[in-house]
Amino acid sequence: MMMLQTISIDEKFQLAKIDPAFRDIFKSALPFLETRKNLIHTYIVYQYATALLKCAQGAPEVIMPACILHDVGWSAIPVSDQLKAFKPGKRDESLRRKHETEGVAIARDILAALGFQDARINQIVSIIDGHDTTQAARSPEDAVVKDADKLWRYSKVGFHIDIERFEFPPKRHFDYLVGHLDKWFLTREGRTIAIHEAHQRELAYGV
Ligand SMILES: [Fe+2]
Ligand SMILES: [Fe+2]
Repeated sequence: MMMLQTISIDEKFQLAKIDPAFRDIFKSALPFLETRKNLIHTYIVYQYATALLKCAQGAPEVIMPACILHDVGWSAIPVSDQLKAFKPGKRDESLRRKHETEGVAIARDILAALGFQDARINQIVSIIDGHDTTQAARSPEDAVVKDADKLWRYSKVGFHIDIERFEFPPKRHFDYLVGHLDKWFLTREGRTIAIHEAHQRELAYGV
């Protein structure tokens, strides 16, 4: 558990740092990650999932592609609409849903072009479909992807980006994140990392 609490997150994406088993997927996803800080978001989610998999249950061959592809659907939504879809307290639910369904279609195309079998593609896209609009863990793999996605919000980069784009005072955003620890995290490991990350933000911002 101690190792999980002290993971360090790399904030500069390089394709060479991605596990060779998943590098082609990440490479194919890149053109779809150009909006909404989605490249750094996805890279950080990828790293949290890697850390979670040291202890949490779930098949990496499903979890890691799902993490890499979970937000490619934002590319199909106009940039001017994107902030509306995920600002806390002001979410446009139809846009949130749309980024999932568009993501499923794009992910299917990417995985089929890379030669994945239909059964594996279906496992991966079933996690993308609903990753944001469902809250319960639908499988161990779904729990890890959801926790890694949420951990972004607690990360150094994610916290900084969110308070800027939402124009929230750090204290308000910190309280929002801490208030959602029990609701959001589905694995013990995810919650442990989130608490550790929240403490780091608390120290850094003096909130
Ligand atoms: Fe998403
Ligand atoms: Fe995400």
